[in-house]
Amino acid sequence: MTTAKSKAPLSSASAKTLTNMWCFLVVISLIVVSSDADSGSFIDDHHRHCSHRHPRAHEVVHGVHVEPAHIVKKRSINQQLRILLHYDDSVYRLDDRKFELINNTILPEAVHFWERALMVRETRGTIRLNRKCESTQVFVKDNLTHCIDTCKSETMCGEVVVPEEHLDACRICNKAGLNCRVEPGSVPGSGIDGADFVFYVSAMSTERCKKGLTVAYAAHCQQEAALDRPIAGHANLCPESISTKSQELETLLSTVKHEILHALGFSASRVPEEPRPASRLSTKRCKRTSGASRRSAR
Ligand SMILES: *[C@@H]1O[C@H](CO)[C@@H](O)[C@H](O)[C@H]1NC(C)=O
Ligand SMILES: *[C@@H]1O[C@H](CO)[C@@H](O)[C@H](O)[C@H]1NC(C)=O
Repeated sequence: MTTAKSKAPLSSASAKTLTNMWCFLVVISLIVVSSDADSGSFIDDHHRHCSHRHPRAHEVVHGVHVEPAHIVKKRSINQQLRILLHYDDSVYRLDDRKFELINNTILPEAVHFWERALMVRETRGTIRLNRKCESTQVFVKDNLTHCIDTCKSETMCGEVVVPEEHLDACRICNKAGLNCRVEPGSVPGSGIDGADFVFYVSAMSTERCKKGLTVAYAAHCQQEAALDRPIAGHANLCPESISTKSQELETLLSTVKHEILHALGFSASRVPEEPRPASRLSTKRCKRTSGASRRSAR
């Protein structure tokens, strides 16, 4: 892991990428927010790992239809980001002290931090995430994504199984891209209202947790169609690494804030430099554990 400090302002190139991707209005609000952020809170201990890797192509679902692009694009960027938290069962299996710390202190503070910091174009439609397909190829018809013949029985976001009520109906076409329809018997879930982003949180002791001193990892998993912005993401908090010691609270909080940034889609391979408008933000760079070939191709 490298810990890179930089006072460089947001470069125009990275600002442009950011605008394309999220249409965030970050600068003014971050300066306000940073005044109540502990100045040391973004510099993690050197021995802590953030093992972020950019999600692989097959891990990200594109083209989630929420609202038509011509309507969304007219809205101004004047609404605070609204994040809906969804816990995997593994979070409820944490011991009581860890659950309380995560549920009552760490997640509310970390989520609220980014909700206050980031402004977006409001999502007025109901979010229903796309189902994953068995094949890597999909068809897009009437701006809706269709699987070939069948959808996967479960759609994952990171380690988390997306609940049926968050999913759209299964749409399919035949191998030739014809006879496109909703799979008979498949119904859309009730969906998510009043949020711009769904954040799935798990607390599983996975292989990745066991590598090095990984505390947590995160990435986005679905992007919506009109603005191509991430609309769902996940983080896994490695249970053994959650410390309830009060002297480690700030470190845990800054780690979770950092992971939420990855869940929102900020990643070294999407944005040349992670956003650091207030210069204190993101003083840490993540170690990349894969994606080398993609990077060398850039
Ligand atoms: C978890 O957090 C939510 C929202 O802050 C709260 O309503 C709920 O009571 C908490 N659960 C427990 C078991 O503390
Ligand atoms: C699909 O999206 C394009 C671009 O956003 C839009 O111009 C077109 O009207 C949409 N088509 C349908 C059938 O919604």
